[in-house]
Amino acid sequence: MPGKVIVIVGATGGIGSVLGQKLAQSGNKLVLASRNTQRLTELTSQLSATSSVIGIPTDITSPQQVETLIEKTVTQFGKIDVLVNAAGVGIIKPYNQLTPEDLEAMIDVNLKGSCYTTQAAANVMKDQRSGHICNIVGILGKHSMNMASAYCASKFGVVGFSKCMAEELKRYGIKITLFYFGGVDTPFWDTINLKVDRKKMLTPETCANAILFALNSERQAVPMEINIQPDSYFFL
Ligand SMILES: NC(=O)c1ccc[n+]([C@@H]2O[C@H](COP(=O)([O-])OP(=O)(O)OC[C@H]3O[C@@H](n4cnc5c(N)ncnc54)[C@H](OP(=O)(O)O)[C@@H]3O)[C@@H](O)[C@H]2O)c1
Repeated sequence: MPGKVIVIVGATGGIGSVLGQKLAQSGNKLVLASRNTQRLTELTSQLSATSSVIGIPTDITSPQQVETLIEKTVTQFGKIDVLVNAAGVGIIKPYNQLTPEDLEAMIDVNLKGSCYTTQAAANVMKDQRSGHICNIVGILGKHSMNMASAYCASKFGVVGFSKCMAEELKRYGIKITLFYFGGVDTPFWDTINLKVDRKKMLTPETCANAILFALNSERQAVPMEINIQPDSYFFL
């Protein structure tokens, strides 16, 4: 699938940055988005050695910034073949310690942010009558976990939103794939106060390869959902 125009939201993250490297190596045109301008600039210049890459600082909690991201992508590259939503944050706490700000953060970034990017990219893809949206949900988009009520609420929401949009978009040749990864060893866990063994988690490479698998599917084939758990956690 070389030559595709691919927007990666959360491009500076553990999963997003490995995916960006792999997609750049196969000759795609990349648009990298996240809030951290410095990291975005570093990554953009690193990947520019092998591919056509631009970085657009974006906070996905702002619908205006998301619109600007999509507009600038179309201005630069003329189309959007793929959107990968790899942005997200995790707040894992007992339900009675969750503050209104915690709940807002989960819903604003994980749920509303994904909705804004999916909507904006879908509008462009609809006119093109083609496109592929990859939403990295995580296993907590379909299973519960102790202390993950706010996070699960945001991720279950992404699943509902995405599945309904998929119904509306399938007649325009647009695919939506949902990825349910178990724990992945990325900076996501740096701020989470939970005893976990990061060595037993999935690697971002495994996740990036799963996304590439979905993107390389035949035109008429839609990989709707991909589940991957570390071997110590399978069949939740
Ligand atoms: N790690 C896991 O165990 C795991 C498992 C399953 C699913 N997931 C999901 O997979 C996705 C990627 O996770 P990861 O492990 O790669 O996490 P990560 O390394 O912490 O990366 C998160 C990314 O999200 C971006 N981001 C956060 N808030 C943002 C905002 N308001 N606007 C734009 N970008 C924002 C961050 O960049 P800036 O801070 O620069 O904005 C960063 O690029 C997330 O949705 C996460 O929930 C993770």
